Amino acid sequence: MLQIVSTADGSKTIFNSEVGESYHSKHGAVQESRHVFIGAGLAYFSDRSNVQEISILEVGFGTGLNFLLSADFCESHQIKLDYTGIEAYPLSPDMIGQTGYEEYIKPKTWQCFQEHYSDCLAQCVALNPQYSLQIALCKLAEFSSAKHYDIIYFDAFASMHQPEMWTETAIGPLIKLLNPGGVFVTYAITGQLRRMLKGLGLEVQKAPGAPGKREMLRAIRH
Ligand SMILES: C[S@@+](CC[C@H](N)C(=O)[O-])C[C@H]1O[C@@H](n2cnc3c(N)ncnc32)[C@H](O)[C@@H]1O
Repeated sequence: MLQIVSTADGSKTIFNSEVGESYHSKHGAVQESRHVFIGAGLAYFSDRSNVQEISILEVGFGTGLNFLLSADFCESHQIKLDYTGIEAYPLSPDMIGQTGYEEYIKPKTWQCFQEHYSDCLAQCVALNPQYSLQIALCKLAEFSSAKHYDIIYFDAFASMHQPEMWTETAIGPLIKLLNPGGVFVTYAITGQLRRMLKGLGLEVQKAPGAPGKREMLRAIRH
């Protein structure tokens, strides 16, 4: 069962009682997304590479919060964004409407996301000249792509609840989809994840975590 709940920064998230976990940190959903994925992922990559087009692959699209904040960021920085989300259990448009995320983004971003969310589950949609979105409706293990990506947002449920998502079998094929210079970013860090990513040839960095977590992980493909 899915239930909308509030987090400490006032923004909402969804609690999945079957999994026993919410979609975001209880310390702040928007705060976490801004810190981990926008700050340590997108802003870090765009500062380093100074490119005008960025492609992002997200594991666990969920409410679309990471997409919405990324779209706003890219628009403000005049970067073209090509965004692909992987989602095995898509939320209903009604549930997404109840998150209240319009409070944190440009009205135009929210409006086109609301209007085209269902279309994006079937195909890649250019929501405006600046960004496009496609949500691949499948499990991570079934995902394949001819495209390569600059950034991977790894936003699966915690390994305590979904250990199979944090294995080399799951993550190894994703890393092959990362462009040279590309960044893999996630909210958690464990010794096992660090060793695995190093073994896959990435430079692994510890970064300060979002409130509630001491550290998070970023890894670079050289
Ligand atoms: C922590 S939540 C992601 C939150 C999301 N990024 C957001 O901002 O709302 C994990 C997501 O992974 C999805 N998921 C669970 N198992 C999956 C699988 N095997 N493959 C792809 N997605 C999966 C869940 O349905 C959920 O949306």
